[in-house]
Amino acid sequence: MAEAFSPPVTVALTGASGAQYGLRLIEALVAAGHEVWVMVSKAAHLVIATETGAELPARPARLAEALAERSGAAPGQIRCFAREDWMAPVASGSGAPSAMVICPCSTGTLSAVATGASNNLIERAADVALKERRRLILVPRETPLSAIHLEHMLTLSRLGAVILPAAPGFYHQPASIDDLVDFIVARILNQLGIEHRLMPRWGEAP
Ligand SMILES: Cc1cc2nc3c(=O)[nH]c(=O)nc-3n(C[C@H](O)[C@H](O)[C@H](O)COP(=O)(O)O)c2cc1C
Repeated sequence: MAEAFSPPVTVALTGASGAQYGLRLIEALVAAGHEVWVMVSKAAHLVIATETGAELPARPARLAEALAERSGAAPGQIRCFAREDWMAPVASGSGAPSAMVICPCSTGTLSAVATGASNNLIERAADVALKERRRLILVPRETPLSAIHLEHMLTLSRLGAVILPAAPGFYHQPASIDDLVDFIVARILNQLGIEHRLMPRWGEAP
């Protein structure tokens, strides 16, 4: 019998810097027992290779295997979808619901989501999340921000999406890059209502 996982969470990695955030988020969701649906843009593959040295396979089935190996996922816990897999559950509002996180989120994908472009599965899945009023979290990493970026963020925030910039704090005295990455991943998990032990909540004992 197939293993039962907690409800699926969709994670899209796009070509902004900060691939570590998305990869760590997948690990944390796997550790929390969730099924994880993953999409990786072409530019994200390049950023992942540049930032982590990992050459992840492009084909969805192979990508799922590679991500499962990295994260210790059980068989079937991670599913990956191709750029134009319009039959994927995330492509339609009648598919099984899932919260969606675009992490990291390029300004290109941010703009496509704000304008409803839906030219690839990541953009379409975000469009579906907005129209179905599902949780949608975008984690942009860009600086400085132009008025175009800011206007798109405001549009999306007004539509109910959460704009969660990849801007880690330093008040927890991070000792490593992992601490900085976990700061952001913890914020994403908080937004999703998923328990974690990555770092204590403000006001809680460490
Ligand atoms: C190493 C590298 C780092 C990049 N960093 C950023 C970034 O931090 N923010 C951003 O918006 N785009 C960044 N880009 C540019 C995007 O990858 C590019 O605009 C791409 O078209 C985004 O496509 P996607 O949204 O389909 O992933 C970066 C590209 C590379 C190769």
